[in-house]
Amino acid sequence: MKLSADREEEARLWAATEDARKTKIFDLDSTAPKETYQLLTSAIIPRPIAFVSSLSSDGVPNLAPFSYFSMISHNPPMLSVSFALSARRPKDTRENILQTKEFTVNIISEPFIEAANSTSVLVKPPIVEESAVSMECELYSHQDISSSSSVLPTATLVLGLIKRVHVRESFLSEDGSTLDPTKLRPVARLGGVTYARVVEGFDLPRVSWKATKGVYEEIDSTQKP
Ligand SMILES: Cc1cc2nc3c(=O)[nH]c(=O)nc-3n(C[C@H](O)[C@H](O)[C@H](O)COP(=O)(O)O)c2cc1C
Repeated sequence: MKLSADREEEARLWAATEDARKTKIFDLDSTAPKETYQLLTSAIIPRPIAFVSSLSSDGVPNLAPFSYFSMISHNPPMLSVSFALSARRPKDTRENILQTKEFTVNIISEPFIEAANSTSVLVKPPIVEESAVSMECELYSHQDISSSSSVLPTATLVLGLIKRVHVRESFLSEDGSTLDPTKLRPVARLGGVTYARVVEGFDLPRVSWKATKGVYEEIDSTQKP
């Protein structure tokens, strides 16, 4: 297992310079939620964005973006979306999902990011036509979350069971099993109003334990007193 010379030098500087070792600790028990938000949303990046479409119990369609979004498992196929709540106004998406138990998650691609950014726009179709990937979900469970200083929930985590996935066929790899990220052009959210593109992938083969075992054993033996 040999790192490239550049990577090796980078890794040395990354680990060992005084600047690299200087750390500021944020104690989140004594940090205001607004500052915690700014810190965490710029640290836990890039976050994929779920463009969630839902219907109210009386049939009003709703579409909004959420970046507290992740894949939870593939067996069963499951994702999570989480809502930050305020006393000022409920999140319609959360209300709709809890009431109707259904929603779709649509992946935002760069060509329509500006339209997505301006959605409180209502759309009729349950999936977003522009999205190359849309997932039909059923509510699996939800968990209200409260901060220690609040009786009312300050967030809600929703787990959605993915029932069907709609994919633009031309975005699929030759064997039809995966999506080509250069075609999908997913947009991720960074901190504030900053977004990121996935411009370039690189392959990093899995390291075989069998093949590298000897290297680690050698390092181990040189470090023993
Ligand atoms: C890119 C982006 C990501 C967002 N992510 C979240 C999120 O993860 N959770 C959340 O509660 N609000 C998030 N918001 C804010 C909601 O989209 C916004 O409050 C929206 O108006 C909610 O709409 P609704 O009331 O129709 O559900 C995000 C906004 C943007 C632009």
